[in-house]
Amino acid sequence: MRLSVNLNKVALVRNSRGGDTPNVVEAARTVLAAGAGGITVHPRPDQRHARPDDVFALAGLLKGFPEIEFNIEGNPHAGPRDNGYPGFDALIERARPHQATLVPDSDSQLTSDHGFDLSGDNAALIGKIRRYRAAGARVSLFMDPDPGQIERVPATGAERIELYTGPFAETVARHGPDHPGSLASLEVYREAARHAVRLGLGVNAGHDLDLDNLPLFSRIHEIAEVSIGHALISRALDSGLAATVQAFLAATGR
Ligand code: PXP
Repeated sequence: MRLSVNLNKVALVRNSRGGDTPNVVEAARTVLAAGAGGITVHPRPDQRHARPDDVFALAGLLKGFPEIEFNIEGNPHAGPRDNGYPGFDALIERARPHQATLVPDSDSQLTSDHGFDLSGDNAALIGKIRRYRAAGARVSLFMDPDPGQIERVPATGAERIELYTGPFAETVARHGPDHPGSLASLEVYREAARHAVRLGLGVNAGHDLDLDNLPLFSRIHEIAEVSIGHALISRALDSGLAATVQAFLAATGR
């Protein structure tokens, strides 16, 4: 199972001050040196997270790491904005990531919280998928663990799905990993993943995965990749805070 680290939260802290600290490319170097197998960004049109410049800088960095997967997430229907966001198509066609993960988010959404509903007319989505595949990206669709919906993915031309793990994470957070409810939720995801594999799809997963729920989720052997941002960066803050306070104390000469 590949771990792709989502660097949006590093960009969020940087954006809160302007300037270039913390530096997203330096964070990517650290993440890769620590052994992660991929880098993910989700450049939202309001530019509060990773920005287009981050996307292109990371694409440049990752040219030197051919075994590392670059994954760009976003709503394929997000067009150019006055604030300089060039539109999702332009991001994919200029950065040429290994993977484009398509999400049905609205602009103002706090975070992704549902997968695609493919029961209607998918013509526009199919056109986007064809376009990103022509740009060399593997296309993955963010999906709920609903076999009836997953059934419709192969007809879109997407090669993978990313299972939205929010409900699983919420169940484990409420009851703990050994609770029958958590194990039942795990089985829902396992069944969805197996169904996808039977349909010839690869399976990724993400959202709210953390150190408490990941050991349980990792029992699903069909999962090719997890992308993790919020909990990982939050944990990095926890882990580094004491040593950093000491470094600052030392800088005061005490
Ligand atoms: N997958 C998708 C499609 C997302 O939008 C996000 C959040 O940007 C993640 C995974 C990662 O979620 P988290 O930050 O909770 O680990």
